Amino acid sequence: MLLSSLLPAAFFLSASAASLTHRSATHHEHRILQRLPSNEWFHPRDHPVHHLFGRDADTDGITYPDVGSSTWAAAYPSSTPDTSQLPAAWTAALNTAVGAGKIPNVPVSSQPVPDTNPVYPDGYDPTGPDVCSGTYKCRIPGNVWDAPDGFIGTGFDDGPTSASPALLDFLEANNETVTHFMIGINIISEPDSFTRSVELGHDIAVHTWTHPYMTTLSNEDVLAQLGWTMQLIHNSTGGRLPKYWRPPYGDTDLRVSAIAKEVFGMETILWNQDTEDWSLTETGGTTAAAINASMTTWLTGSKTPGLIILEHELSDESVQAFEAAYPVMKSNGWNLQSVAQLAAAGQSAYQNAIGINNGSVTPADIIIGEISATLSATSSPTTTLSSTSSSASTKTSSQSATPSQSTASSADNSSNSAFSAWSRLSVGKSVVYGAIISACVIFL
Ligand SMILES: *[C@@H]1O[C@H](CO)[C@@H](O)[C@H](O)[C@H]1NC(C)=O
Ligand SMILES: *[C@@H]1O[C@H](CO)[C@@H](O)[C@H](O)[C@H]1NC(C)=O
Ligand SMILES: *[C@@H]1O[C@H](CO)[C@@H](O)[C@H](O)[C@H]1NC(C)=O
Ligand SMILES: *[C@@H]1O[C@H](CO)[C@@H](O)[C@H](O)[C@H]1NC(C)=O
Ligand SMILES: *[C@@H]1O[C@H](CO)[C@@H](O)[C@H](O)[C@H]1NC(C)=O
Ligand SMILES: [Zn+2]
Repeated sequence: MLLSSLLPAAFFLSASAASLTHRSATHHEHRILQRLPSNEWFHPRDHPVHHLFGRDADTDGITYPDVGSSTWAAAYPSSTPDTSQLPAAWTAALNTAVGAGKIPNVPVSSQPVPDTNPVYPDGYDPTGPDVCSGTYKCRIPGNVWDAPDGFIGTGFDDGPTSASPALLDFLEANNETVTHFMIGINIISEPDSFTRSVELGHDIAVHTWTHPYMTTLSNEDVLAQLGWTMQLIHNSTGGRLPKYWRPPYGDTDLRVSAIAKEVFGMETILWNQDTEDWSLTETGGTTAAAINASMTTWLTGSKTPGLIILEHELSDESVQAFEAAYPVMKSNGWNLQSVAQLAAAGQSAYQNAIGINNGSVTPADIIIGEISATLSATSSPTTTLSSTSSSASTKTSSQSATPSQSTASSADNSSNSAFSAWSRLSVGKSVVYGAIISACVIFL
């Protein structure tokens, strides 16, 4: 549309993100972890995230620009976000979380060979409990990898794109709603498919602003990749705050998932089967026949655990691969449900909404005044806080990029002492809220 002439950079990056997507995806074992986490980790009313995207009730006096307008697009980064332009509230919230010990000090990974699995400095095992990298199939407790028995958690990555209308038509014709893990700059470039996805009752989740390998980024760059995508979705959907995100290439670790969760209230969704459908349009990539064979194996196989299959709305071919498999999903008795709704265990895919599919959000949850009043008795200690990971070593490592499944399994165990210690970490809420509220004064 009109925007295309205004945003050539966004289009270029969008195409580039698409063509690079998941090039280094690895195969992985189908491990048994049946239950999805409960949604108890999330505290809808007192989570500090509600201060970061301040918005009053319906009549907040702000005229939001039309989704797709040039005014709307101009308020967001046109490519990789500049961390010197981060809203102060986000940085303050990050610094508070780091200072409170909520963000594990995992070194930033590096990529000596572009588009291959990131590596960590010598001495850091990516499958071990100090790093727990999703690229290496290490499962951070609370991250979602499996669906409940008998369910397929449906979701599509990398949209919206020119392939989205066909997918949306198909889903509408079959009365299905799914989760769309969307890329921020793709929302800017394909606003009509974004809005249609929302209006059809699909769930919108975060797939970052420009689709980088997230573990290679500093804390501030992670903050920007997640925050701008969340802000765009929030300001373009009547105030919805996504509850879920999916890391590009599955590349997250303890540090990155903690920033998503502790600063922005988002839980991480991965997958347990991969069609590699992103490569259908690549030379030497997979084929429709290969996807058909994989899908047939999965869909006629065990229903324990249920399936979360990595699929993309990236090309007509990837959409067609899903359309081909859909009748086989149904004929084999699978229950299909949007993966975000499965993960939310009967609640909404949004942090500030209760209803499923009906789309109503609860403005009161993000009224700054109300929360501030509730917390007004809280002290605001002045603490010098600093980010620890952004300057961590990015020295290259000689360790193999081959996942070690045996060590990954031990990292999987949520009674692992390092994880228990991590999850036991508690922080004085007064410190967090004090700093957040101070930050809000700056932001708003
Ligand atoms: C999003 O909306 C808020 C008000 O709710 C406004 O303060 C902010 O500037 C908007 N952000 C962008 C990037 O348009
Ligand atoms: C569509 O799906 C919803 C939710 O699964 C169901 O309640 C409704 O009856 C379905 N409608 C049609 C026409 O099949
Ligand atoms: C595989 O292809 C065959 C032949 O076209 C078709 O009948 C079948 O439904 C396909 N299965 C899947 C899972 O795509
Ligand atoms: C949305 O769904 C929730 C529960 O699923 C229900 O309580 C609420 O009344 C619904 N809202 C609308 C507007 O339908
Ligand atoms: C998890 O680790 C504990 C202690 O090391 C062990 O007793 C338990 O059997 C393990 N559980 C699983 C599911 O591996
Ligand atoms: Zn992706």
